Amino acid sequence: MNAQAETIAVTPTQNEESNESLLQIRGLKKRFSLSGDFLEQLRFKGGKLVRHQEYVHAINGVNLDIKRGEALCVVGESGCGKSTVARTVMGLISPSEGEIRYDGQRIDNLSSKQLLPYRKRMQMIFQNPYASLNPRMTIQQTLEEPLRLHHPDWSRQQILDKVEEVMRSVGIDPDWGKRFGHEFSGGQRQRIAIARALAVDPEFIVADEPISALDVSIQAQVLNLLMDAQRDRNLTYLFITHDLAVVEHFGTRVAVMYLGTVCEVATTATLFAKPRHPYTQALLSAIPRLEDDRPQHIRLTGEVPTPVNLPSGCVFHGRCPYANARCKQEIPALKTQDDGTRVACHAVEEGRL
Ligand SMILES: Nc1ncnc2c1ncn2[C@@H]1O[C@H](COP(=O)(O)OP(=O)(O)OP(=O)(O)O)[C@@H](O)[C@H]1O
Ligand code: SF4
Ligand SMILES: [Mg+2]
Repeated sequence: MNAQAETIAVTPTQNEESNESLLQIRGLKKRFSLSGDFLEQLRFKGGKLVRHQEYVHAINGVNLDIKRGEALCVVGESGCGKSTVARTVMGLISPSEGEIRYDGQRIDNLSSKQLLPYRKRMQMIFQNPYASLNPRMTIQQTLEEPLRLHHPDWSRQQILDKVEEVMRSVGIDPDWGKRFGHEFSGGQRQRIAIARALAVDPEFIVADEPISALDVSIQAQVLNLLMDAQRDRNLTYLFITHDLAVVEHFGTRVAVMYLGTVCEVATTATLFAKPRHPYTQALLSAIPRLEDDRPQHIRLTGEVPTPVNLPSGCVFHGRCPYANARCKQEIPALKTQDDGTRVACHAVEEGRL
């Protein structure tokens, strides 16, 4: 058994972070088949018919806790598995392996009916506000829909009052309720999508790159709206972004992902002041800074691996300046450091870094 697999066996009650965690992700893996259906998988090899299956290992043993009231930002380059984590947590796709617990209850194996109460408590905001609003529905209908689903006992007036309240809270004039999504700008549409998520008074929000499709000029406004909502409604966020400036502004803690695994989890201040994992160091060194006390831009060499043929051992070893023989064989486990930062790196564990 490799080191990463050992951490998977840790039960939530044994985990040091578990007491205050709203969400616990343990040993989460998701692979997507690239080989089509059964017939498409059959190939002739050496005169014999064999079944050939190929997978994308989108996430590969993710362990993560999200504490009540925090905004946990997940960062990492395109294709590292951020959206797959988000979609698995929300039950939009089922994991290949692993467990997800919400408020102590396992949710990854529930039926849609069993998941319904959690769908009210957990809401998602997507990247593209053009795709996430139904073009055939007015804004009023868009916002009424989740309320009707989750509050079948509510009167018409209760629903109208709630829609009005939530529209005001995101800065959309309630008189615009009869309009359709296409009549609004990208920023306004994202406000409406946020209103839809907030309408059912959730406690946990998964936001997958919620501002990256918006004009730069309005990104800050929408980010502020999300931060105000967190403060006013006591929300917990899983916030996915590739923008480190957003992380610094928004995040309580940060999880850095690389090729389907979490390599470092730290408070935002600690991560920016003292990045430990070689990949985090390279990522942060790319931010232009006025002050001169940061390491110079670390240029990563080596081929960027694909999640189809995952490297053995540490998935970063082909690009890491500190890689040694152990790194090529053994998957590093996330280990907690003195200050609570968690790092998955043999060089950090061995004191070489
Ligand atoms: N439905 C799918 N079928 C096949 N492969 C998929 C599927 N969804 C995701 N993948 C692959 O899984 C890997 C992780 O994808 P994911 O969308 O989670 O990355 P990401 O970190 O969100 O990237 P980005 O920053 O570009 O949004 C990628 O290699 C992607 O191509
Ligand atoms: S485990 Fe080895 S290859 Fe991976 S980041 Fe650490 S030093 Fe580099
Ligand atoms: Mg994504």
